Amino acid sequence: MGKIKVGVIGIGNCFAGLAQGIEYYKRDPKREVVGIMHDKIGGYSIHDIEFVCGFDVAENKVGKPLAEAVYAEPNEVKWVDSVSNCSGIVHESPVLDGIGIYMQNRIVPVKSTKSEGQLRMEAIEEIKGTGARILLNYLPVGSQKATEFWAGVALDAGCAFVNNMPVFIASTPAWAKRFADKKLPVIGDDIKSQLGSTIVHRVMAKLCVDRGVEIDKTYQINVGGNTDFINMLERERLESKKISKTEAVQSQLKERLPDDRIYVGPSDFIPFLGNRKLAFIRVEGKMFADVPFDLEMRLNVDDKANSGGTTIEAIRCCQLALDRGLGGEINSASAYLMKHPPRQMGDSEARDAVNDFIEGKRKD
Ligand SMILES: NC(=O)c1ccc[n+]([C@@H]2O[C@H](COP(=O)([O-])OP(=O)(O)OC[C@H]3O[C@@H](n4cnc5c(N)ncnc54)[C@H](O)[C@@H]3O)[C@@H](O)[C@H]2O)c1
Repeated sequence: MGKIKVGVIGIGNCFAGLAQGIEYYKRDPKREVVGIMHDKIGGYSIHDIEFVCGFDVAENKVGKPLAEAVYAEPNEVKWVDSVSNCSGIVHESPVLDGIGIYMQNRIVPVKSTKSEGQLRMEAIEEIKGTGARILLNYLPVGSQKATEFWAGVALDAGCAFVNNMPVFIASTPAWAKRFADKKLPVIGDDIKSQLGSTIVHRVMAKLCVDRGVEIDKTYQINVGGNTDFINMLERERLESKKISKTEAVQSQLKERLPDDRIYVGPSDFIPFLGNRKLAFIRVEGKMFADVPFDLEMRLNVDDKANSGGTTIEAIRCCQLALDRGLGGEINSASAYLMKHPPRQMGDSEARDAVNDFIEGKRKD
């Protein structure tokens, strides 16, 4: 059983949480790993994951060892004081549409003299040189062009792609086909946190459907205090995030709600919350004899602890697909682990599907 070699795009808070969370368990091997759904996938444990190269635009990250860059500002995760699962130096990525207007005074990009084409060639060389087999995309919301650039690099470098953010790659048939043609797996899009607002809202919606009550309207308001939330203040960058989060809930309803009766989205930035995210979810509807009801939920979670465990599952499922020579979208893992998969499933169905995939009973 070899190691899983991963290259990372966007050395931000999510990646800092992923790398430090794995390290946290490495230091205390007797501690039970909380926050993953499978101890082993295809024989791989969480400690088989190695981050062998990284790409960013920030001048305080590019050129630094990856193991140092995870601690660079504005990253906020500080769970352990060092990580031993990261190697190599952070390399330069083209900025393209990666930095939104509210991030411009927080991220200073390197003063580049290189063309996009040159950066592309260098990235492919670096990826091949380090032996990375999977690229993990953590670019900011709204980075359409930058994500397409990196999906293209993955194809040219012979890498699988795990897309943790809401630009639609796995769920766009033309992109999925390009990965299928190269026999490279793709899992996406937009990571579904372990116990985040999406899964909780889906379960609430499904509960209403299963119990035969009718949902009239529903909302989900999310607030947080990190760069992800600052970036999402720019409404124009949010279109695909809103689609991803809204469809994750709509897909669980018996009948779609009209657009003016469902609101799901990141809603504000509250600086002192840091990586803490608060979600407020409300469902209103009717029960027997058309008598009204409403249901409210408040969730208080660390957004980065919340996505790390799910990402570990996605990386291991992706490696399993690579080991089996599979290409294209991996429907089971995408439906279970991502908000906007190529094919939505109920969460129990998706869990069964991913277990079948792991056991080799299904191909995707
Ligand atoms: N629970 C969660 O945290 C969660 C859940 C679902 C999706 N996501 C998504 O994951 C993504 C990453 O979140 P985060 O909190 O790590 O964000 P972040 O703001 O902390 O990090 C983003 C990183 O990308 C870098 N970057 C910007 N433009 C770039 C470019 N062109 N090329 C390479 N790097 C570039 C930034 O310098 C920064 O280091 C976001 O899109 C977020 O919405 C997060």
